Amino acid sequence: MANPENTQAASDNKLMAWIDKRLPVTALWNNVMTGYYAPKNFNFWYYLGSLALLVLAIQILSGIFLTMHYKPDAELAFASVEYIMRDVEWGWLVRYMHSTGASFFFVVIYLHMFRALLYGSHREPRELVWILGMLIYVALMAEAFMGYVLPWGQMSYWGAQVIINLFGAIPGIGEPLTEWIRGDYFISDATLNRFFALHVIALPLAILGLVMVHLVALRENGSNNPDGIEIKANKDENGIPKDGIPFHPYYTVKDIFGVGMFLMIFAFVIFFWPEAGGLFLEHDNFVPADPLVTPEHIKPVWYFTPYYAILKAVPDKLMGVILMGISVLILFFVPWLDRSPAKSIRYKGAWYKIMLGLFVIAFLRLGMLGMAEGTPAQTIEMRVWTFVYFAFFILMYFISPRAKTKPLPERVTH
Ligand code: HEM
Repeated sequence: MANPENTQAASDNKLMAWIDKRLPVTALWNNVMTGYYAPKNFNFWYYLGSLALLVLAIQILSGIFLTMHYKPDAELAFASVEYIMRDVEWGWLVRYMHSTGASFFFVVIYLHMFRALLYGSHREPRELVWILGMLIYVALMAEAFMGYVLPWGQMSYWGAQVIINLFGAIPGIGEPLTEWIRGDYFISDATLNRFFALHVIALPLAILGLVMVHLVALRENGSNNPDGIEIKANKDENGIPKDGIPFHPYYTVKDIFGVGMFLMIFAFVIFFWPEAGGLFLEHDNFVPADPLVTPEHIKPVWYFTPYYAILKAVPDKLMGVILMGISVLILFFVPWLDRSPAKSIRYKGAWYKIMLGLFVIAFLRLGMLGMAEGTPAQTIEMRVWTFVYFAFFILMYFISPRAKTKPLPERVTH
């Protein structure tokens, strides 16, 4: 009697053969999954790319359901969000997935970027992977900023007011530029409508496109790894990197484990601490937007506050805006600022560990100061950490080619 399992496999193969003749699904799978050899020494930091993909999917899915009930109208927007939270079935969950998801997105992205600084993933031949990542990061910041305006609470309104007014500091074109962005002389229904259009369609499309190119560029040379050495330099007689293992099943299984752990933490925060004490959704944003009443303390959401602190550290508005712009722009150039013969922190020597440590402290501290009231003492501290922030990049350029490195291993280590 025929084995039912074999019969099933044969019919699957027939179906696959039929599909493959018309669409090269198996060839693509073999090419990017089973036939792709990734370094065998991936660690925790290599979960973050797949987690970024997961959060992107969560944001898009929850966003679609929010859009079914949200009203992009200055008269109705705030109430429509309250309606989602109170009356729409599971609406609170969908909204919290999206609002908490935004903060988680930045946590994941900041760690993902930090990994590159640890292991020199941005270095040759992966400079474009990094640049495309930076473009995603900038698009993500715009996406988050516009999303925050949509609930039309006090912080949506006044946050947008402060940020858009920054463009007003540009000499000559500042004023007309702010009007062009707002679509009005002040932040109004016109602003809300265009931000909605950009938030739900234009920017997500751009981000999706950039992510695809980011991954294509990554696969061109394959992933870096915690040792920062190229596994393709050491191949066996079949042309397979000796330190590589097939992405599927080894890393698909590893990534699924990461997804499980992430979802547990994500669910815990959504269920028990969705607003993170005003960090993910600020208290002022539970008050409807009122153009006549300025909140006492206007500040952006936590993921923008390091840059906001750099802006506030400078007394002159235009200079502050310029310095803030440079603080993001400089990140694009990291692949060329780091000239060390070693890519990974493991072999770069103590100088890099100290500098990267100070940079992380500066970024976190600036983030905290950007949320604070801005007392004179805090302003001085902001200046100190702004200095440390920029010193990291400038010193990297000068120290990295000269500093002594540890001998690089021939093969990856465990
Ligand atoms: C929606 C946002 C993003 C998604 C979905 C995404 C996705 C991924 C994935 C799946 C990988 C491969 C797995 C891994 O190495 O963890 C990766 C690698 C990489 N990403 Fe991203 N990424 C995003 C944003 C960024 C940003 C903002 C940067 C930096 C500015 C960046 C820089 C890199 C680099 C340098 C690598 C290569 C890492 C290595 O080989 O060691 N990515 N990304």
